[in-house]
Amino acid sequence: MVRYALTLGVLGFLATLATVATGCVGGGSDLGGAKAEEVGKSASALEPALDFHGIGETVHTSGAIDPANPFFQSLGTNGRTCNSCHDARAGWTMTPLLARHLFETTGGTSTIFRPHDEAIRPDADVSTVAARRVAYSMLLSKGLTRFTRVPSASADYTVVAVDDPYGFSTPTAISSFRRPISVANVALEASITWNGGPGEMRTLLMNIMNGGTKFHAQATTDLPVETRAAAADFMLGLFFAQSYDFFAGRLDAAGAYGGPAALSTQPFYLGINALEGDPITGLPFDNESFEVFSAWEGIDHVDPRSSGRHDHEPSWQTKARAAIARGEEAFYATEFDITGVAGLNDVLGQPVIHGKCTSCHSTPNVGSGSVFRMLDEGTTDAALRTPDVPLLTVKNNLTGAIRLTTDLGRGLSTGKWDDIGKFKVPTLRGLAARAPYFHNGSAASLGDVVDFYEKRFHIDWKGAKSDLIAFLGAI
Ligand code: HEC
Ligand code: HEC
Repeated sequence: MVRYALTLGVLGFLATLATVATGCVGGGSDLGGAKAEEVGKSASALEPALDFHGIGETVHTSGAIDPANPFFQSLGTNGRTCNSCHDARAGWTMTPLLARHLFETTGGTSTIFRPHDEAIRPDADVSTVAARRVAYSMLLSKGLTRFTRVPSASADYTVVAVDDPYGFSTPTAISSFRRPISVANVALEASITWNGGPGEMRTLLMNIMNGGTKFHAQATTDLPVETRAAAADFMLGLFFAQSYDFFAGRLDAAGAYGGPAALSTQPFYLGINALEGDPITGLPFDNESFEVFSAWEGIDHVDPRSSGRHDHEPSWQTKARAAIARGEEAFYATEFDITGVAGLNDVLGQPVIHGKCTSCHSTPNVGSGSVFRMLDEGTTDAALRTPDVPLLTVKNNLTGAIRLTTDLGRGLSTGKWDDIGKFKVPTLRGLAARAPYFHNGSAASLGDVVDFYEKRFHIDWKGAKSDLIAFLGAI
């Protein structure tokens, strides 16, 4: 109870900020040192999302968000809309913070709370508020949605056992808990869902509109093609990014390119700045593919001749901006050895890649992978399993090898042992609004993500770790 009360306290705090930030309260109030009216400056910005780093905003290429779009309509049988799980307040996905707010304000009856895909098992008791609190615990704690996965009979592996904490899974019907992915910025991606595709983006989005309505909204018939197309076009025009940082102020100020408006003009095509070379320009891969905050590099530099003079000391806002720029540099310049990543080291025939974060998050200023490529960086390994997720024992039908994993990943769609545990490289914009991270929400914060990589690839940040976190929270 204490935890929920605390969470609601935070939401209340954030809601107050939202009122200030969007200018509903008279201007002039001081929001972290910057004038409040500065926050809502961009005329094109819509739907502010508050998070622990600042504010994220949406831009739609049509100039407005059309609430009549099928994306926002209840087209099934259970009251759900796409918006139920892809909410602007959470960066067009769902977060535990927002889920708890919805739970506490509706007693767990808001449209997101439907047992077939949000309860710990589809037949969970949801008859009372207390029962619903237990039933929806994975949504409330990590923002996770449940899918029942049925491995293909022709797969080259066999699931021999499932240790399911909720006692539902069998080797042929397995509960898999996944984070909803933001539906913004999909125009800047090579594929959608954690392990789906490949395919033409608009077609993929039309298909998910239909499939999502049938599964999540429990519709009994297919949607008309025009309805699918309208929702696909809505998603293709939707851009979301962090726009305001509590310390650095507006992220598009003083020559920087943060925020959704700049993102919506970002060029993208399949293979742009790919590790194996760009198919359109013919240019080799460039690690230095994030230049959102390059204008802020070194702006906290103090002329040695004026050192000691208080009036030459950079302001804390200048220092915060310089730290974000240093974090951006740490992101594309800190070198480490990438080893043992199935889907990358083996595919490129390079057991050791002297790489950077951008080796995988390569799309300029976006961070998605620009080629269709699924990677296993170890996020499903048994060693990282927490007691709230099922653990699968999988056998290779050919070699008899055994692998313990918490998710079949791409191996679910291909039926291939080699694809188990592989996921797409997700977009990194708008991160702050959508904690927790990874397909299973296993990293609670951006600091936890950075800790994961530090351990996984033995990274020495050379003093720039907190700058890197500030950068990730500002994109
Ligand atoms: C009950 C929650 C829920 C509802 C409702 C829902 N989704 Fe999702 N959505 C998810 C989850 C979970 C994923 C990730 C699934 C995966 O990859 O395993 C996802 C992924 C997506 C993605 C992939 C985005 C990307 O960049 O990879 C798109 C697009 C999407 N959903 C669109 C929709 C549409 C359109 C609707 C309405 C028909 C919808 N969703 C309704 C939970 C939901
Ligand atoms: C070997 C390729 C690779 C490298 C190198 C890499 N990533 Fe990732 N990244 C991925 C993949 C794949 C995922 C999805 C994994 C999952 O969800 O299980 C991911 C997920 C993430 C996420 C979570 C995004 C979300 O929406 O949940 C963040 C944040 C992230 N990476 C940041 C970084 C940073 C910072 C670095 C450098 C230290 C880095 N990555 C290096 C491949 C890589």
